[in-house]
Amino acid sequence: MDKIRITGGNKLKGSVRISGAKNSALPIIFSTLLVEGRHRIENLPDLADVNYALKILEELGAKCTFNKEESYADIMIPKNLEPIATYDLVRKMRASILVLGPLLARFGFAKVSLPGGCAIGTRPIDLHLKALEEMKAKISVSEGYVTAESAKLQGAKIFFPMPTVGGTENIMMAAALAEGETTLENAAREPEIVDLGNYLIKMGAEISGLGTSTIVIRGAQKLTAPKSHAIIPDRIEAGTFVVAGLMTRSDILVKGARPDHLKAFLDVIKKAGGVCEIDEDSIKVSGSEHKDLKPVQVKTAPHPGFPTDLQAQVMTLMTQAKGVSLIEEDIFENRFMHVQELVRLGANIKTNSKVAQVYGPSELTGAPVMATDLRASASLVVAGLAAKGITEINRIYHLDRGYEKIESKISGLNGNIERLK
Ligand code: EPZ
Repeated sequence: MDKIRITGGNKLKGSVRISGAKNSALPIIFSTLLVEGRHRIENLPDLADVNYALKILEELGAKCTFNKEESYADIMIPKNLEPIATYDLVRKMRASILVLGPLLARFGFAKVSLPGGCAIGTRPIDLHLKALEEMKAKISVSEGYVTAESAKLQGAKIFFPMPTVGGTENIMMAAALAEGETTLENAAREPEIVDLGNYLIKMGAEISGLGTSTIVIRGAQKLTAPKSHAIIPDRIEAGTFVVAGLMTRSDILVKGARPDHLKAFLDVIKKAGGVCEIDEDSIKVSGSEHKDLKPVQVKTAPHPGFPTDLQAQVMTLMTQAKGVSLIEEDIFENRFMHVQELVRLGANIKTNSKVAQVYGPSELTGAPVMATDLRASASLVVAGLAAKGITEINRIYHLDRGYEKIESKISGLNGNIERLK
């Protein structure tokens, strides 16, 4: 199993370009199932999860070619395909459940394995299934599979008891080919939802309210494959590099980022005394300028609140703040697995189920640590860059799921990092 070795202490310098957003690429790749033809998806990051999503499409009968040098994929969706996604396919990546909406809408039938839970929580899909039933789908769950049938999905007024990113995406895709109008109340507002919606609009769906809590989708009789679509930049990768700059007290430029997608995060960085200058597509981090970082209180929330995917990274930063920070994880039930690893590096953090108290500043020293989930592993990389000595991170397949070319990006910033086979 690969691992990453980081020798901390280097000042970072120069600039890093942010890749396309994993959590926009995945639903957009699955949305191509809605319509026959050739789809070109640009600014596609070369990530394990993206390659896996393309593999799932191929298993379903599509043909995908991914030009990794130029970051675009051509996806050929055939007239007919087998609307069945097996356990073997789905179990490795929970987002595969997003084939359910498109397959059901296009073929009137879909059989998809229930996604397993994952390290950060049970991750149920009850809200996806309840919404599809309100659109007159017949849903049955047995032997670990969801079977959904419907001659023609009917538009419906759907209320989500809590904003769900995947639930909003599955239903938006189903509604794009449903009869009539579907209204989603308390819909998720993430930038990735807006990007998916824009792609569905290019296909010919009529959608309004993207980015707000109420999204209205008017189903189309027929959709056509758009000429091309470029994925938005990955706000979580951008936030991760901002923290890397501040942690190592370095001045770096994060290029190709969308600061407007990171308002809640940048507000917290400002409150902590971190110095960042934003442009419309870049963030200039002046880590050498802040004196002591100040402690903050953060609660994760659905967008536009503070993103749960940046919780571990900000916790790592707060190990360097002077005082006690409170970080509350309200989205997932088990997303503090990085705490024990950070403590191994010298951090002083106490947790109860939902709240972590971070006592800083603490001197971080390198040690062998273990990646547990995608975003937690990124926080260990950032901590390793600031720690004295050598940090070795095991199980970095978690990292490869969501961070494109992480070593070359960090070496490009003068970080001392190498991958050990
Ligand atoms: C998406 O997961 C992202 N994944 C996650 O990113 C992200 O952390 C999460 O949204 C929250 O922003 C992708 O986009 C591929 P949810 P998703 O449905 O769609 C509960 C990463 O690191 N819920 O918004 O699964 C659920 O248990 C990943 O890139 C139900 O109870 O998130 C959770 O507590 C990690 N029933 C909360 O809602 C449902 O039917 C939010 O989940 C659906 C969700």
